[in-house]
Amino acid sequence: MSNLDSLDKIVSLAKARGFIFQSSEIYGGLSAVYDYGPLGVELKRNIRDAWWKEMTRRHDNIVGIDAAIFMHPKVWEASGHIGGFNDPMIDDKQSKKRYRADMIIEQYIEKLRKDDKHEEANAIQEKLDSCGSRKSLTEDLYEIIMENEIRAPESGAFDWTEVRQFNLMFKTQFGSTSTEEDGVYLRPETAQGIFVNYKNVLDTARVQVPFGIAQTGKAFRNEVVARQFVFRMREFEQMEMQYFVKPGTDEAEYDKWLEKRLEWHKMIGIREENLRTAPHPEDKLAHYARAAADIQYKYPIGWQEVEGIHNRTDFDLTQHAEFSGKKLDYFDQKNQERFVPYVIETSVGLDRLTLMVLCDAYREEEVDGDKRTVLKMNPKLAPTQVGIFPLIKKDKLQDLAHKIEEDLREEFSVLYDESGSIGKRYRRQDEAGTPFCITVDFDGVESEGEDTVTIRYRDDMSQDRVPVSKLAEVIRNGMKGWKPE
Ligand code: GAP
Repeated sequence: MSNLDSLDKIVSLAKARGFIFQSSEIYGGLSAVYDYGPLGVELKRNIRDAWWKEMTRRHDNIVGIDAAIFMHPKVWEASGHIGGFNDPMIDDKQSKKRYRADMIIEQYIEKLRKDDKHEEANAIQEKLDSCGSRKSLTEDLYEIIMENEIRAPESGAFDWTEVRQFNLMFKTQFGSTSTEEDGVYLRPETAQGIFVNYKNVLDTARVQVPFGIAQTGKAFRNEVVARQFVFRMREFEQMEMQYFVKPGTDEAEYDKWLEKRLEWHKMIGIREENLRTAPHPEDKLAHYARAAADIQYKYPIGWQEVEGIHNRTDFDLTQHAEFSGKKLDYFDQKNQERFVPYVIETSVGLDRLTLMVLCDAYREEEVDGDKRTVLKMNPKLAPTQVGIFPLIKKDKLQDLAHKIEEDLREEFSVLYDESGSIGKRYRRQDEAGTPFCITVDFDGVESEGEDTVTIRYRDDMSQDRVPVSKLAEVIRNGMKGWKPE
């Protein structure tokens, strides 16, 4: 069992072992922005590669692109992000904390229900559901908060600002003069880079509907509530795939991709009991979606979205066709028909995935009266796959250890370590999630015949003596046969 009741242990381990650091830490840090250290960057890269392999190489009708972060400002008008990518926020003047106005009301309704005040709760819920129909959305929300004297969750004060729309996009300037027209945005999702390249891919990659375009890259959102480590960041990385399908086949494709994506999370070694799917209620769908579901993971902060699957219909292509004046439809040669494809989107956050892998792998165990912290992650994702140790600093042992390091490094990520007791070296690698440790000792180099070494397995700490020539094969088999416990 994982022993995680909060994110604190993961945050500490991530910093202590060089997985993840707060950005600009020496200056006091930058809120909701993080840097990946030597182990973190390897882990993140391995997860990204596993996703890329799954989404592109395992499908002959999915190709990749790498679009720029900056895009023409019209993109965001067409996509609806300028008009619709807003959260209604309200500030508590006493604590200076900012809250989502609708969430404050929802929490209040929940509290009423807990106190068996169902009639009152239903009346407020009805008003909340019809917000925007009386005056504006912000005014209607504000009115509910005022009428019910809803207090700030943390300070308990009833001292609110007005409700204001807060756009989540970061804006910056292009060129040396900063006029309104030079304003560009840092993309809040990578998906739009795929939509605006749909025609280029269609014209160059000889693909036919159904086909997909995959991309990984940075996205930026000026998140208001951003206090959960790399779960909610202001700069993060997305891995998205847009699957272009014939209208009418979209519902079946949506079901298929939801299932396929859930299976992938299990395939990379996340325990089944910590994963579930959660469809979005119709009235909570994003502006572009006809259907949507989260793949959720049981983080220490509760069940939360790690990936979203959306049926975006022809919304984006139709919008871009209208705003750009370019035709973005598809001609089906075989059936001699023309249509605008529907899009099924799979969208996962790489940082949330990395956090999920760390949380799911984290274990504290008691070994001979001592505490062992170990990351039991899929060996294929581990930042270091093989630790190589000479038992002590003697030429004979060091030479063979270096030779093994050279032999294995083309296929596996390896680390040579000769400092500290062997027990300490094992513990260091346990905390880094290293699945195999090889120790070169005198028994192995001085006995007759071929040199042998011990290989120690991270998960159960068992050890085998193995001829040096068989090491790569033993590690390969250990990787293939790995299952989460
Ligand atoms: N293109 C669709 C889209 O962007 P989303 O549900 O807003 O949909 C998709 O985001 C995924 O991106 C989420 O499931 C999550 O993993 C990740 N994500 C979104 N906002 C994030 C943030 N502020 N920090 C880290 N990851 C985030």
